[in-house]
Amino acid sequence: MYKPEAMEENKKVFVDLLQSVDRKGIDKLLEYLETKTDFYTAPASTKYHNNCAGGLLAHTLNVYENFKKLLELREIEMPEESIILVSLLHDICKCNYYVLEQRNKKINGKWEQVAVWSNTKSVSPPLPHSYRSVRMIIQFFRLTPQEEYCIFYHMGPYGGEDYEYRSLLQKVNTDHPETLLFYTADLFSTYLDEDTYE
Ligand SMILES: [Fe+2]
Ligand SMILES: [Fe+2]
Repeated sequence: MYKPEAMEENKKVFVDLLQSVDRKGIDKLLEYLETKTDFYTAPASTKYHNNCAGGLLAHTLNVYENFKKLLELREIEMPEESIILVSLLHDICKCNYYVLEQRNKKINGKWEQVAVWSNTKSVSPPLPHSYRSVRMIIQFFRLTPQEEYCIFYHMGPYGGEDYEYRSLLQKVNTDHPETLLFYTADLFSTYLDEDTYE
C-alpha cells in the first residue's frame, strides 16, 4: 500500500514503471508531468480519499497493485504495459485541477484559518472526468481499445446516467471483464487503502 507522505519514493516507482513501457511518447508525457503539472504533489480528491499532497500519485500506485491482484484472482490476461498505463494514468485529468485555499474553521470554539483543497472552478477542457484523462493521454501516444475502455469506464455506474451509457457499460463489463476489475481496483484503493485527512 502506498502512502502519500512517501512522495519521493512513490515518484520513483511511478517513473520507473512508466519508463518500462515501450511506447513512443512516454518520455514526452513524463516531461510534461514534471514541468507543466502538479501531478506528483496533487491530492486525489478535495475531501475524500487521499485529500493531501501526494495523494494522487499514491492512489495511482494503489490502483496498480489492486488491479494486478484482481486480474490474477480471476485469471484474466492483460499485457503488463497496459496494466501500468491504465492504472498510473487513469486520473491524469486531476493534475492542475486542485488548489489549496484558506478557509475559516471553528476549532475548539475559535475561528482559525486553515488550508483546504478545492477544485479549480474551470474544468478544461469541459469534458467528463474519464474522457478528459483519455484525451490527455492520446495527445502523447495511442491507447489500445482495451486500455481506452478501462480508463473511460473506470467510474462504472457513476460515470454517466443516461440509458446509452448504462447499457454500454453493461456490455463492456461483460465483454471485457478487465474493465469491471479496473473499476473495482479504483474502489478498493479509494475505500480500503486510502485515508481521509482533516
Ligand atoms: Fe477517477
Ligand atoms: Fe482513481
